[in-house]
Amino acid sequence: MSGIPHDHYEPGSAPEKWLERRLPVISLIYDTLMIPTPKNLNWMWIWGVVLFFTLVLQIVTGIVLAMHYVPNTEMAFASLEHIMRNVNGGHFLRYLHSNGASLFFVAVYLHIFRGLYYGSYKSPREVTWIIGILIYLAMMATAFMGYVLPWGQMSFWGATVITGLFGAIPWIGHDIQQWLLGGPAVGNATLNRFFSLHYLIPFVILGLSIVHVWAFHTTGNNNPTGVEVRRGSREEADKDTLPFWPYFVMKDLFALGVVLVVFFAIVGFMPNYLGHPDNYLEANPLQTPTHIVPEWYFLPFYAILRAFTADVWVVMIVDWLTFGVVNAKFFGVIAMFGSIIVMALVPWLDTSNVRSGRYRPQFKLAFALFVVDFVLLTWAGGMPAEAVYANISLVGAAYWFAYFLVILPVLGVIEKPLPQPETIEEDFNAHYGEGAAAGKATPAE
Ligand code: HEM
Repeated sequence: MSGIPHDHYEPGSAPEKWLERRLPVISLIYDTLMIPTPKNLNWMWIWGVVLFFTLVLQIVTGIVLAMHYVPNTEMAFASLEHIMRNVNGGHFLRYLHSNGASLFFVAVYLHIFRGLYYGSYKSPREVTWIIGILIYLAMMATAFMGYVLPWGQMSFWGATVITGLFGAIPWIGHDIQQWLLGGPAVGNATLNRFFSLHYLIPFVILGLSIVHVWAFHTTGNNNPTGVEVRRGSREEADKDTLPFWPYFVMKDLFALGVVLVVFFAIVGFMPNYLGHPDNYLEANPLQTPTHIVPEWYFLPFYAILRAFTADVWVVMIVDWLTFGVVNAKFFGVIAMFGSIIVMALVPWLDTSNVRSGRYRPQFKLAFALFVVDFVLLTWAGGMPAEAVYANISLVGAAYWFAYFLVILPVLGVIEKPLPQPETIEEDFNAHYGEGAAAGKATPAE
């Protein structure tokens, strides 16, 4: 794919020329910062920068927490109390880190839903999407292991339930579970390896995020119209884009500031709102909590896991056909992982040749229902394991799979899209008036 024509860094002075020939780091930074960016990007394009900020926040606060934390079942819980009471700024640090995890997931869900609505996953951005999914999986693994570290009741029982899922895999499941735990049950070996991996994986996420940016810098950003930047000539490209610095840097920093006002209000005034009180009780392997729930960001997938009980007819048929190998428990595990796999495959499941949801009336409805479905599953996942909630989760899970496997492939064929603008410039001018590009007009809306 040919890049969008734009300025490139030219080393001026002799030392610059010297460095450029040996390590073109200045041109890398220059080209990254000055990259032509579609000038019509809206406020849903801020989450990538929020995600970068949060990743750095988590790494920095995590490293300092690790200086005081003790990954031993006898001392982990007490070491966190020590951080909260004795370490300078310790409670602030801990609350930044625990609420930072929630901010990370809020941002990633909005980022993913933006991509799903504007068709950012479609050709040629499939690799950006797939790397995004890998990042998301790595985030889930990191958050899950991080939640075990305080060694509270939910840490212990959450780890027991989730690692138990691997035990549901036929024949090899038991061995996998033991290998993950480092023993027959959640214990000191588990805590040690979870701590080690919880420290490691964020750096993997950082590496993946850099490749993620590399991928969309290669294809160019998508934008709300889904229409590509013109690449024919420098003049045309300039009419569709603005350089990332200073325009989008300023916009993103402003948005980050607004997000952080809300974030710091939560960290300062209600830091335990998203936590579970049971995690302030030290882990007790002899006492199961009445109601084991994961963190809020896992709830939609937890609901899908629990939706497929033994009395659901699809489960009964599959159980019978596979001679009991795929029983209800294993079915739930397949459904949970399957729900992410279908999302990963969306670039190939969505058959429409119109990229942005803006110009797809029926898609809009299906997408709105998908958002409602996500909220419904989050709610149902937090409810007790009772029949009524399992039924609601079942409907939610069914729609999740139908959206990716039936609705998107079929809609692409039967839907009649609305007319799209020819160029990004046309869309921009329709919103802001012809003079806006020259900085003369205020927004028309
Ligand atoms: C640590 C996590 C992540 C970071 C730091 C990150 C960063 C970014 C940034 C900076 C952008 C460009 C600007 C923007 O859209 O805000 C972007 C675009 C994109 N991201 Fe992510 N991302 C992350 C996770 C994800 C995930 C989990 C997915 C999907 C599963 C995803 C899918 C995409 C796609 C498809 C685009 C292209 C959109 C476009 O071209 O405009 N990202 N990402």
